[in-house]
Amino acid sequence: MFKAYRPTRFILFLFILVAALSTQFVFAQDQEPIKIGVAVAQTSNVALLGQEQVIGAQIAEAYFNEKGGVNGRPIQLVLQDTAGDEAGAINAFTTIIADNVVGIVGPTLSQQAFSADPLAEQAQVPVLAPSNTARGIPEIGEYIGRVSAPVAVVAPNAVRAALELDPNIKDVAVFYAQNDAFASSETTTFQETVTALGLNLATVQTFQTTDTDFSAQVTNALALNPQLAIVSGLAADGGNLVRQLREFGFTGLIVGGNGLNTANIFPVCQALCDGIIIAQAYSYAADTPINNEFRTIYKEQQGKEPPQFSAQAFAGVQVFVEALIRLDNIVPLETLDLATTRKLLNVFVLAGGYETPLGPISFTPTGEIVQAQYYVAQIKMNEDGQTGVFTFIR
Ligand code: ALA
Repeated sequence: MFKAYRPTRFILFLFILVAALSTQFVFAQDQEPIKIGVAVAQTSNVALLGQEQVIGAQIAEAYFNEKGGVNGRPIQLVLQDTAGDEAGAINAFTTIIADNVVGIVGPTLSQQAFSADPLAEQAQVPVLAPSNTARGIPEIGEYIGRVSAPVAVVAPNAVRAALELDPNIKDVAVFYAQNDAFASSETTTFQETVTALGLNLATVQTFQTTDTDFSAQVTNALALNPQLAIVSGLAADGGNLVRQLREFGFTGLIVGGNGLNTANIFPVCQALCDGIIIAQAYSYAADTPINNEFRTIYKEQQGKEPPQFSAQAFAGVQVFVEALIRLDNIVPLETLDLATTRKLLNVFVLAGGYETPLGPISFTPTGEIVQAQYYVAQIKMNEDGQTGVFTFIR
């Protein structure tokens, strides 16, 4: 009897040990979500773009956790405000990297990316730019990729759409913010497109993203009677420039660049935002399972259709989550230290394909997004002059 008792106790001990370990395992997983950094502009004028990114990233966090996170382990966003300048982005990246994130979605501006991304590169932390569209972003380093299609492929579509709406366009006035890396890059594309389409580049006017008075540039340009104006700036300055173009009597079509691609410009140019043509790397109407789900969640929360910046931020978080799942399926994440996780995550990000609200995407070896479809929308303001919608025209 005594002899029979000992193995029973041993089995019981083993059972308790396994139970304790598995409890600890589950507990540890509950306690330690995988941290993904989101460093975008939550304050300053650039928050006109960044606010939409926070919403998109937070929808992704809840959505993927609802689906089981990374093979049962939840993800947790670590949000850090970059504000609107380089110093803010550098601070946010430094803080977030020290907070043990596996990767970073951010920053908002290309201008900030050229300063902050090298820190992530140095620390070997993968970055997915959710909105940096200037030329040269993925080339910053091995760890830098983007889910935001570059101006070179997106912007020309807006000029073509303008020509479809008004085939009589001949003379074009181009405006750009010369203190901003993205606007400077985008204007090059716009100017090349104007020339390639056989139009006359009547004038190129420059401004600063901090400007509020554009009367000199508008007066200079309108003296040349252009039929199309193209604006590359950010939301506040861009919106004000559009408003002043109309106030000074310009009646031609206006193409706005990617920095104006938000309903947050409506309070800036109000009724005069009406008719702005903006190229899109996302359409809320894309009929795919994930976009339909994203669209439904966004609309329930925000009471309107989701914008491009939210969809791109969602896609950034999604790429990290799905790459982590694929990595975990091959090498369990709990066997890896943080530095190795970050390195392998970068490899898995670049290797995969993803069905996102932006459509199917993948990456070139340098981290440039490969995306199939682009669109063009036109702003339609409502009678109240305060609210409006982006209607898709292409
Ligand atoms: N697309 C803009 C940029 O790259 C927001 O800065």
